[in-house]
Formats: sequence, C-alpha cells, structure tokens
Amino acid sequence: MTSALRPDLSTQYDLSPKMSGEFSHETSLESSHDLSHANTMALACVADFVVTLTDEDQLDRFMANYAGSNEYNIPLLVLSGGSNVLLPAQLHAIVLRPLMRGIVVIDQTQTYVDIEVMAGENWHDLVIYTVAQGWYGLENLALIPGLTGAAPVQNIGAYGVQLEDTLQYVRAYHLPSRTWQHLSATDCEFGYRDSLFKRSPNTWLISRVGFRLHLDPSQILASYGDVQSVAQDYAKQQNRTLPIPADVMQAIIDIRTQKLPDPKQLPNCGSFFQNPIISNAKFTALQETYPDIVGYSMPQSMVKVAAGWLIEQAGLKGGGIAPIVTHQQQALVLTNHTPYQATQEDVAEAQRYIVACVYEKFAIHLSREPIWVNADGLIGHDEHVV
Ligand code: EPU
Repeated sequence: MTSALRPDLSTQYDLSPKMSGEFSHETSLESSHDLSHANTMALACVADFVVTLTDEDQLDRFMANYAGSNEYNIPLLVLSGGSNVLLPAQLHAIVLRPLMRGIVVIDQTQTYVDIEVMAGENWHDLVIYTVAQGWYGLENLALIPGLTGAAPVQNIGAYGVQLEDTLQYVRAYHLPSRTWQHLSATDCEFGYRDSLFKRSPNTWLISRVGFRLHLDPSQILASYGDVQSVAQDYAKQQNRTLPIPADVMQAIIDIRTQKLPDPKQLPNCGSFFQNPIISNAKFTALQETYPDIVGYSMPQSMVKVAAGWLIEQAGLKGGGIAPIVTHQQQALVLTNHTPYQATQEDVAEAQRYIVACVYEKFAIHLSREPIWVNADGLIGHDEHVV
C-alpha cells in the first residue's frame, strides 16, 4: 500500500485523544512522525503513526480500538530506546513506544532485594541507581544504551554478565492474543544475544522487568579483560584494598568510554555483528594461519570468535562503505557519519561488503545483531548478507 492510498488513521481508528473519549487523554498519537532522532544509528525514518504509552491501561484501550477498526491491517511495531534497531526511511506501521516509568521494591531480605522496573526507565540510569542503593548485579552492564524494556529482547551482555543472570520475570503484552502475560526467566528462553522476544518478532510488548539483586558488596565479577586492574585502581583511590561493585561499574564506564562511540556524538547501534560461534576443529585450523585469532571456549566443542578481530584483520577497521564505517577503536561497531540522512540501504550496503570481506578471508559468516525493520513494519531476517 502506498502512502498516498493510506487511510487517515486518526479518524479511522478513533485514535486521536481529541476524537476518542475512550482513549486516555495522556496518550499521544502522532502521524507522519520523524523517528530519525529516536534511533541511535540516526537513520532517516518517518513513521506513519506513533503511539506513546505512559501506562499499561493505555495499551488495553488502544488495542480494543485498533482491533475493532483495523480493516487495513496496519502492522504494529514496538520501538523502545531505538539502540539496537535499523529503521526504514518510510515506516508504514503504527509504532508503539512503551515509555512507562517507575522502579518498585517488591521484596527485601538480608541477602537480596527484588525490584520491578518499568520498560521506559533508562538502562544506564537504572544501573547507577541500583549500585547507589547498595543493590548489586547490574554493575557490569553499565553504559549500555537503551531502555529497560528492550534489555530482555537481546539479553544484553557485557564484561562477563548477561541480563538473564539477575532477571526474574518479564510482564509483557502478547499482541496476537491481546493478553498480558507473566514470563519467568525460563519462559524467556534466553541465549547469547537472543531470547523468545527476539525470535518472535512483532509479538510482544514488554512493560515490566523483575530483577533479584544481591546486597553483598564483596561479590563482584571483574575477571574480564582490564576490568580487574582498572577497578583495583579505583578502589585504591578510595583507600580500599579490594574493589566493590561501584569500582567495577566505574571501571566499565571508563573502558566502554574509551572503546565505544557515544551515540550522541557518533551515531551507532553498538555491536553490529554477533561474535560467530564455530567448531573447535575449525578454530584450531585457523589458529595455524592466524596464531593471534581471539576465541573463547564454549560448550559442545565450540569456540566464540571475536568478530571485531576478524573485521580488523580483514583490513576494515575504520572501513566499510561511506557513510557507514566501522569504529576506529572497535571494529565491531558500525557508525553513521551522515546522521539523519543515511538510510537503512546504506547500512545494508556496508554490511554486505564487510560480511563478504570477512568470509573471503576466514570462511566465517558474520550475522547482523540489530533488528532490521522492513518498510511494512515487519521485522526482517538477516537477508542482506552474501
Ligand atoms: N578486537 C580486535 N579489534 C577490534 C575489536 C576487538 O582485535 O576492532 C579484539 C579485542 O582486542 C579483544 C576481542 O576482540 O581481544 C574482544 O573485544 P571486546 O572485549 O571489545 O568485546 P567484543 O567481543 O568485541 C562483546 C559484546 C559487547 C560488549 C563487550 C564487552 C558482542 C557482539 N559484543 O564485544 O557488546 O560490550 O563484549 O563484554 O558480544 C553491544 O552489545 O553493543 C556491545 C558493545
């Protein structure tokens, strides 16, 4: 359907607050909404409609309305902080933005605290807040861009910790059945950079995430790379012999700041590729030609290879296809040098080129990590690779 033929949804669906008494007055529905500032890659994008949700009831009301009048079958797309997504220039969908706020303590014992966090809370601010409260477990995930509601989709992970280590449950709206559901950590089917939510596109809207955080400041995880030594320096500055979670958090903030571009300064969506997992046999064979290849042992005789290393060795650190090029300090991150102008197609072109170069050199296939949204609002697969 071309945009010229599109119905006026605000009247068709009675979505506008001005036009519908059923719809909460706080709900904002906007048409022809520019989303180029709502994705950290800063890709040019205009969406047909955007609905901002600041409480859960608004979604119930919206869905009742949408279901009753959606004869044009306009797809729904959930967009959170936009930090792991590649949007099309024209997005023919109704974009739902879960921006509910709030952090509530559900339970506290001598050893742990259970908290429930609404989807719209900024992730990094949440990490800082929990560490300041003396609630630990999220400190290694500091400075990851985005909102809390999106964190389970990708099972965010960094410096030896993944979200699934502290997540207890998710409350989410199942769009096809129009029901709210409580999913345990097991129900979420987490994997490396993966979850049920990522594998079932256009299906779930996450509204709350429950965490169990511990209260023991001596329990830290600082074994990854430089984290231990930088955290130790912070501890020393504070006259402590051993680092505490706040030192680890500060160390990780420093390390990330040095290596990863700030999306506000240089638009990007974090790691652009997953670290590929190959067989031990293949890794050993590659080691003969490339003794410095970086890999981490995995279960079942597999090895996770550092994609950033592969890209750098393929001669692409700082390379790609302008305006989309890899970052000088971390080749796994693709950056956009013409913010709000570059399009999804520019990204696809750079992706194809990088994947082809790496494959030619190492016979290893790189898979894209961020979510690709098609022009019709449906989430695409990794179809842009050779
Ligand atoms: N490396 C290079 N050249 C590069 C980049 C990396 O040789 O240009 C080497 C490094 O020297 C190191 C190895 O590759 O030996 C791994 O690099 P790094 O520690 O930076 O981690 P990564 O595997 O590239 C992953 C996550 C990051 C996360 C870091 C730290 C994935 C896809 N990415 O990157 O996540 O911050 O570990 O835990 O697993 C993100 O999700 O956006 C993200 C940045």
